[in-house]
Amino acid sequence: MGRLRCSSAVFLLAAVSVVLLLNSDVALGCGFKRIFSFGDSIIDTGNFVYSTGNGPSALKELPFGMTFFNKPSGRICDGRVLVDFYAEAFNLPLLPPSIPELETGQFATGANFAVLASTALPPDYFKNKYNFTMNVPSYLPAQVDSFKKLLARIAPGDSATRALLNESLVVMGEIGGNDYNFWFLGDPKNSRDTPDQYLPDVVAGIGAAAQAVIDLGARAVLVPGNFPIGCVPVYLNAHQSDNASDYDENRCLRWFNDFSQRHNGALKQEVARLRSQNPGVKVVFADYFGAAMQFVQNPQQYGIADPLVACCGGDGKYHTGKPCDKNAKLWGSPAGFASWDGIHMTEKAYSVIAAGVLDGPYADTPLRNICQG
Ligand SMILES: *[C@@H]1O[C@H](CO)[C@@H](O)[C@H](O)[C@H]1NC(C)=O
Ligand SMILES: *[C@@H]1O[C@H](CO)[C@@H](O)[C@H](O)[C@H]1NC(C)=O
Ligand SMILES: *[C@@H]1O[C@H](CO)[C@@H](O)[C@H](O)[C@H]1NC(C)=O
Repeated sequence: MGRLRCSSAVFLLAAVSVVLLLNSDVALGCGFKRIFSFGDSIIDTGNFVYSTGNGPSALKELPFGMTFFNKPSGRICDGRVLVDFYAEAFNLPLLPPSIPELETGQFATGANFAVLASTALPPDYFKNKYNFTMNVPSYLPAQVDSFKKLLARIAPGDSATRALLNESLVVMGEIGGNDYNFWFLGDPKNSRDTPDQYLPDVVAGIGAAAQAVIDLGARAVLVPGNFPIGCVPVYLNAHQSDNASDYDENRCLRWFNDFSQRHNGALKQEVARLRSQNPGVKVVFADYFGAAMQFVQNPQQYGIADPLVACCGGDGKYHTGKPCDKNAKLWGSPAGFASWDGIHMTEKAYSVIAAGVLDGPYADTPLRNICQG
């Protein structure tokens, strides 16, 4: 009996190791042991909400989280966000936010440093250059510093840090959107032309953060571009125009989409520069603009009725009459909308964008194949 048990245990072990071997092709050939991500509210998975302590926040109540988690999850979404889909694609657990366990966590499968309202450039930049005060809870260089401190604790020493990052994917954004949102959605007197002046510095800031993680040992870095902000409900509402030629064939604001494309064009060049300066490192540009245009141009294909209106909000042409909170109007099932709350997208929209990045064509190497060739 004992013998039999023993041999079936051996058989089981053998079966398990066959499975492991089969999986290890995937795991070693094209997988990552962990993901570290940086950014703003688009991918924040709980850092900001944690930092509010016991204070009130609409984000701590339904309908946030209603779709996937059935409860608020710290995400500014009805369900999963982009990094969640990347984690799932590599068979990793959903990324924990870094701040709650910054001093104690081992983060064996990675951590998310993204914080709602973060900018790429530090607030001092805007204060010194434009006398513009930004009260941001975090910004990209601060997130990278926090990452360095964490690495010094969980993988102390240069070679341990390098070995850990060698098996990690770094997702550098989306970040930079807020550097523009604060201006375009702030004082209506703000000149629309100013952000073009600081756009090169935003892009250089993202490039510097990517270079910093590469210097630490990262071998795979995804650098996402900005979304088509001219198709975002709060932009459409704030910049309504009687002039039909301000709108494109998708009813989006032409000027603001062109602006996003200027940012993305410059960021793509920065990615090309990073590649040439860091041979052997995979630096991949993710075209979130193009990926999002799929459901802007063909919403029916995704079961979306109108891609330019918020699911959760208030009245008004773009449903932006009220912010999304527990008293807001839900205009229908989030799966039928691209915009969740007028500025952030629905899980549905993020799933479409993530698929375009993981499988192509909206990443210059499909993320799923990033370690091949
Ligand atoms: C900067 O802004 C503050 C308040 O917004 C204003 O009082 C001050 O005069 C401004 N400084 C300059 C140099 O424009
Ligand atoms: C990183 O991983 C590659 C292959 O996965 C290996 O050849 C290389 O030696 C590793 N480098 C470090 C510093 O661990
Ligand atoms: C309408 O918008 C177009 C492009 O956005 C601009 O060239 C044109 O001057 C505007 N017309 C009026 C009447 O403002």
